[in-house]
Amino acid sequence: MLSQFNSSHIEAFLQLARAEGWVCGKWEMDFLLQTFPQGCLVKRDGNEVVGYITSLRHHKSGWIGNLLVTPQARRGGIGTELMQGALHALLDAGVETVWLTASAKGVELYKKLGFIAVDSVNRWVGEGSGSARWATSNWYDPDLLRRVDSSGWGDRRDALLTITSGRGQVICGNHSFLCVQHWPHGTQLGPWGGLLEGQAAPMFELALAAAGRSVFLDVPAGNVTAAALLTRNGFSIRGSNTLMYLGVRPKYAPQKVFALASMGSMG
Ligand SMILES: CC(C)(COP(=O)(O)OP(=O)(O)OC[C@H]1O[C@@H](n2cnc3c(N)ncnc32)[C@H](O)[C@@H]1OP(=O)(O)O)[C@@H](O)C(=O)NCCC(=O)NCCS
Repeated sequence: MLSQFNSSHIEAFLQLARAEGWVCGKWEMDFLLQTFPQGCLVKRDGNEVVGYITSLRHHKSGWIGNLLVTPQARRGGIGTELMQGALHALLDAGVETVWLTASAKGVELYKKLGFIAVDSVNRWVGEGSGSARWATSNWYDPDLLRRVDSSGWGDRRDALLTITSGRGQVICGNHSFLCVQHWPHGTQLGPWGGLLEGQAAPMFELALAAAGRSVFLDVPAGNVTAAALLTRNGFSIRGSNTLMYLGVRPKYAPQKVFALASMGSMG
């Protein structure tokens, strides 16, 4: 039996997640548990929690993240049971396509459930300059973000854009946007979307000026413009996950997705 992931589980989850080297924070868990509680689940063994999963419904698509089973409880079917619980919640809510990024440990499990690999997502790391001063008010047009983001992912992802763009600075061009999100240990670039390749370089320069020293971002391998730009700026790849989906084939256009909104957990 699975039960609801609630706020009392967050601290123990974050400790395990950090031990896996994941970038995640309490704000993100609060957001997920409030936005789609029926898809955020834990597995108990008596009083002990031995597995966690979260999911988020966008519009026609959903995203599963944070699948984590305690090391001593692995290979006993708990990961599969949690996945089935989250999938059930998303499909019940009317989602047609379910996305996730898979670690090497997760890929086989997801394939067994019918997930199909569509791309890789590379974790790039590099340095910012932190030279720009930013005004405290950061106005931007939310419709631009929605339009550009949906042209890359083939779906509206309003709640995800609202929470991530509210966490830092948003840089906008005519047909592109980039959010700079500050974490305690560095700066994440993303979500970052663009319809015109030519706007990527000036936008990236502004973002680097707004970022602290340590900068990281998750970028689809299918976006070759982003890879070239990052390489030119001294960034390098530190890891890679597989981007997978289940259900209706999404209208995914990686050339319009320069960086994901979250570090694997929400899209
Ligand atoms: C990935 C993870 C969630 C799997 O949980 P689990 O409870 O062990 O999964 P299951 O027992 O349901 O495994 C189902 C199948 O997935 C595959 N699988 C699971 N763990 C695997 C591993 N480490 N390597 C290769 N295949 C694996 C196997 O095919 C397995 O079937 P089998 O045991 O009959 O061979 C768990 O290893 C974990 O928490 N890892 C660290 C965090 C992580 O990488 N999460 C996934 C993020 S995308």
